[in-house]
Amino acid sequence: MCSPVCSMEHLWMYAAAVLLLLWLLVWLWRDSLVISDIGENYVFVTGCDSGFGNLLCKRLDRRGFRVLAGCLTEKGADNLRRATGPKLKTILLDVTDSSSIRRAMEWTKKEVGDRGLWGLVNNAGRSLPMGPTEWMRMEDFHSTLRVNMMGVIEMTMTFLPLLKKGRGRVVNVASVLGRVAANGGGYCISKFAVESFSDCLRRDIHYFGIKVSIIEPGFFKTAVTSLEPIERELHRLWNQLSPEVRDSYGEKYFDRYIKVQRLIMNMLCDPDLSKVTNCMEHALTAQYPRTRYSAGWDAKFAWIPLSYAPACLLDFFLRTVLPRPAQSV
Ligand SMILES: NC(=O)c1ccc[n+]([C@@H]2O[C@H](COP(=O)([O-])OP(=O)(O)OC[C@H]3O[C@@H](n4cnc5c(N)ncnc54)[C@H](OP(=O)(O)O)[C@@H]3O)[C@@H](O)[C@H]2O)c1
Repeated sequence: MCSPVCSMEHLWMYAAAVLLLLWLLVWLWRDSLVISDIGENYVFVTGCDSGFGNLLCKRLDRRGFRVLAGCLTEKGADNLRRATGPKLKTILLDVTDSSSIRRAMEWTKKEVGDRGLWGLVNNAGRSLPMGPTEWMRMEDFHSTLRVNMMGVIEMTMTFLPLLKKGRGRVVNVASVLGRVAANGGGYCISKFAVESFSDCLRRDIHYFGIKVSIIEPGFFKTAVTSLEPIERELHRLWNQLSPEVRDSYGEKYFDRYIKVQRLIMNMLCDPDLSKVTNCMEHALTAQYPRTRYSAGWDAKFAWIPLSYAPACLLDFFLRTVLPRPAQSV
């Protein structure tokens, strides 16, 4: 028979289990709440020529959002317009060009009027060149950082007044490689930067009713994971090395490096892009969007070695001690 001390222990365990279950149920219910006025909301998406951005625009258009799609090329914009309804509008946008960003913002300002902007999805990105760090030249870092890091920051800063007006949301596309530094080159650096920029931004602008979510896709079959350009870029990097550096690695290393890339991309890349766009849609339509969305089974693994709890505690601490701005909601 159980002693009174033993039954008290059991009682605590049952109470903890019930509380945990209740917390989970409340979380699931809260997570399922959806905003009501979708048809009146404007969402600006960058990098809509292909991949996640392209699919997201089509899906938001089907759901009734007023989609403003930034495309890098005229061809991409034409194809997207042909595949969607009359509510979707496109504009040419290069996120590495300040004047292009400003033009897009002025155009958006006219489109949204007094309503302001509900969503900004910073999706545009490039992955190449990726490879061993010593093989890179400074321009190889810059070319990726300009799009994936400075592009995200400049887009957000420029569109912030419209988002403030609309009490909207910023949805930044990072990556599992913004959690785990698996490749040399600018890509991982840029995605770690998107994570930290988004975390600071969230804390700093929550007073104005703006929410910031981060999307962390694993490996998906799109242009950024296409093997042919990855290999082409690796050959370019290899050919630009000085003979001393090339000798220090050797041809065998180079061949094996390429084989490993093939193996990883063939094994990991998931063709179902909707796993990512579902997360983006949730971030735009949920009453309580999540801070982070990890999309794909490989992205979930990145959570294991990471200490997320201290980041939450730091966030809570800073929000408690920092002053509130005059116009906070
Ligand atoms: N696929 C993955 O496994 C994966 C994993 C994690 C994160 N991501 C991230 O997901 C986002 C979307 O990538 P994706 O996989 O859908 O590949 P994608 O099809 O190549 O999409 C990237 C889009 O960004 C556009 N873009 C490139 N440079 C730009 C610039 N300077 N200004 C404006 N747009 C530009 C590209 O246009 P063009 O097609 O005309 O070049 C393309 O439409 C990226 O941020 C990427 O880093 C992808």
